[in-house]
Amino acid sequence: MSIEKIALQMLASGKGILAADESTGTMTKRLDSVKISSTEKNRLGFREALFTSKKVGTYISGVILYDETLRQKSSRGSSIPELLNKQNILPGIKVDAGTKPLISSPDELITEGLSGLQERLKEYYQLGARFTKWRGVYKISKNFPSTAAIMENAIALAKYAKLVQDANMVPIVEPEVLMDGAHDINKCFDATSSVLQECFHQLEIAGVNLKGIVLKPNMILNGSESGITNETSEVAAKTLKCLTHNVPKEVPGIAFLSGGQSELDATKNLNEINKINDTKFVFTFSYGRALQQSALKKWAQNIEDTESAQAVFDQRAWMNSLAAMGKWDSNKEVTI
Ligand code: G3H
Repeated sequence: MSIEKIALQMLASGKGILAADESTGTMTKRLDSVKISSTEKNRLGFREALFTSKKVGTYISGVILYDETLRQKSSRGSSIPELLNKQNILPGIKVDAGTKPLISSPDELITEGLSGLQERLKEYYQLGARFTKWRGVYKISKNFPSTAAIMENAIALAKYAKLVQDANMVPIVEPEVLMDGAHDINKCFDATSSVLQECFHQLEIAGVNLKGIVLKPNMILNGSESGITNETSEVAAKTLKCLTHNVPKEVPGIAFLSGGQSELDATKNLNEINKINDTKFVFTFSYGRALQQSALKKWAQNIEDTESAQAVFDQRAWMNSLAAMGKWDSNKEVTI
């Protein structure tokens, strides 16, 4: 399948992406928070529960995996990519190697992972991956994001995206402007605009086919320590404005990260964006925490009872599927 077709499949109407690509360190923190030990078996156990829920294939078009999971065998004996393929879900893989301090501005971050990437991509394709993810991380403060952080992360994202397309996979380009901080929503709007402009500038220089990428940005929000409540209508209007001004029309779609928003806020905001969307962009979700949090808590109550955790996950995925079509409403929210 061409990369343009894969991108369209990832963005199919009423579907979104499950980001289950937490590194072992991050997954250990998530499991610690519900008092489950982070063994290889438990990491797979929770993830396999999500990947085999009754409705996963109805609401989820693709799953971003971590290297460990891509190589694991499911309890049914098949590989994880085979398990996903059976449900018409595209397997994806996180290929960045995390962040380290940026040399010219050590309180900011640069994402690593370009070295040896071309070879890793070949292997990931053979293992069944059809799309990939790389996350650039930007902090907001009085002087951040600096020009250096904006440029260097954009260059890395562009080099990554080109290598991935050359390996016949779709790159998810994820520039995440963090919500940490006391800034207001306008500062987030400005920072995200600068970040996106530079990303698309570098993608163009690198010769990336914009029809064969999926953009995974943050929504435009007040900082989490600002004390300001995010109003759904303002978040949606400013997010739509920021993206329509800074994302070239060739890009087929945008799959948001949740970035630490509550499950409900992430759903509500996505729904509102789709209700007011007057553009050709598809807006959907590529959530990690906002799809998994409640399901993880349920699973931790009894890890043998996968069905209960799956029911919680299916409900959340359904709510986000409706939000991806602008058809969500609060009456459909039930606690399982
Ligand atoms: O890179 C970040 C993940 O893919 C999305 O996670 O929705 O919890 O922010 P999140």
